[in-house]
Amino acid sequence: MRKIQVKIPSCPKSSYCIAVGAGSLPKILAQIRKSLPGKELFLITDANVVKAKHLKNLLGKEKLPLFIITPAGEKSKNIKTVIKIIEEMEKKALGRDCVVIALGGGTVGDIAGFVAAIYKRGVPVIQIPTTTVSQADSSVGGKTGVDSSVSKNAFGSFKNPAAVFIDVSTLKTLDKEQFNTGLVESIKHALIADEEYLKYLQKNLKVILARKAKPLEYIAVKNCRIKASVVEADPYEKNKRRVLNYGHTIGHAVESASNYKILHGQAVAIGIIAANIIEQKLGFGGKERLAGLKKLFGKLDISLKIPKTITKRQILDIISRDKKAVKKWPRFVLLEKTGKVLCKKGQFAHKTERKIVEETINILIKQKF
Ligand SMILES: NC(=O)c1ccc[n+]([C@@H]2O[C@H](COP(=O)([O-])OP(=O)(O)OC[C@H]3O[C@@H](n4cnc5c(N)ncnc54)[C@H](O)[C@@H]3O)[C@@H](O)[C@H]2O)c1
Ligand SMILES: [Zn+2]
Repeated sequence: MRKIQVKIPSCPKSSYCIAVGAGSLPKILAQIRKSLPGKELFLITDANVVKAKHLKNLLGKEKLPLFIITPAGEKSKNIKTVIKIIEEMEKKALGRDCVVIALGGGTVGDIAGFVAAIYKRGVPVIQIPTTTVSQADSSVGGKTGVDSSVSKNAFGSFKNPAAVFIDVSTLKTLDKEQFNTGLVESIKHALIADEEYLKYLQKNLKVILARKAKPLEYIAVKNCRIKASVVEADPYEKNKRRVLNYGHTIGHAVESASNYKILHGQAVAIGIIAANIIEQKLGFGGKERLAGLKKLFGKLDISLKIPKTITKRQILDIISRDKKAVKKWPRFVLLEKTGKVLCKKGQFAHKTERKIVEETINILIKQKF
C-alpha cells in the first residue's frame, strides 16, 4: 500500500493520509478500527456500489449501521437526502464520537462529507472513493456539499477527511463512459502540474483502459500528490487552488447549458480544448499539445462536440455568472506551457478579453480546431 500525507500547515490537526492499494477494500475496516478505537462507525454508500459488491467486500462478515442512497447519482445529491441521513443517524443514537465512512463516487463522498460537517456540529469522515472522478479529485481537498434546485453545490462546507483509502480494483465495475470521462481530471492534473505525467497517460492509455492494477495505482498516486500539493498551499480556495479549475470555466458552462445531459468529464474536455485555443490566441503556443489532446480524448471516446441546442450567447451568459467572475466576467486558468499555469502578479486567473473568448466559442461550435 502506498501512502501520501496531506498536510494543512494552517491547521495541522486537519492533516490526513491517503492510502492507495489494489485489492485493499477487505482490509480497510480493520485499519479504521485500529486507528480510531472505540468509535462508532456509520457507513454511507449508494445502490450501485452495493450492487457492484463493494459494500460486501468492505464489510466481510461485519455489520455496520448504514444508509444506502437510492437512486444513486446526482439526482439524490440534495438537502432532502442529507436530512434523511441525519435523521437515520439520530435514530441510531449516534453521538459526536461517531465516524462517517463514505463508500462510493463523488456524489456519495460530497453528501457524506457534508453530513459529517454538520452532524452535531461535526464528526470525522473517511473517504473510500470508487470512481475515477472521486479517486482523482473529489475525495481529496475537503470540499463537500449538495445541490439546490437552482444550482450545484449550493449548500456546502469545507470538511477535510480524517483519511482516504483508495482501492483501484473497485474501478473494475464502473461503467465505461463513467470510467473514461473521469480520467479527464487526471489529464487536467497532468496539464497543470506535470508534463511527464501527461506523456505517461498518452503512452499507457491502453493498460489504463484495460483497468490493470499497476497503472491505476500509479495514476491514483500521481493525482493525489498533485491535488494534495495544491490544497496544502491553499486549503480554502483563496488563490492557488484555482489552478484545479483548468478547463472548468467553459466546461461548466457547456455542462450547465446541456442541463447536465453531458457528463462533467466530457464538458471539462471541451473546456480544456477551449483553454488551449485561448492560450494559442494569446501567443503561448501549444499547437502540438492541442493535437495530442484531441487524439487522447478521441481514444477515450469522448466527443468534443458542443450539443447543437447550445448557443454562444448561452455560454457567454453562463460564464458571466461564474462564481469566480469579477464585474460579470470570468477569470481563466491558462497554461504558459504544459505543467505550468500562467501566473501574473501572484494571480493564477487571467482576465482574458471578451473578443478572444467569443472567437474561441465560435471555433468550438464550428469544431474548427
Ligand atoms: N468535492 C469535490 O472536490 C468534487 C470534485 C469533483 C467532483 N465532485 C462531485 O462529484 C460528483 C461526481 O462524482 P462521480 O463522477 O464519482 O459520480 P457518482 O458518484 O454519481 O458515480 C457515478 C455512477 O457510478 C456509480 N458507481 C460508483 N462507484 C461505482 C463502482 N465502483 N462500480 C460501479 N458503479 C459505481 C454510482 O452509483 C453512479 O451511478 C458530482 O456531484 C461532483 O459535483 C466533487
Ligand atoms: Zn471537475
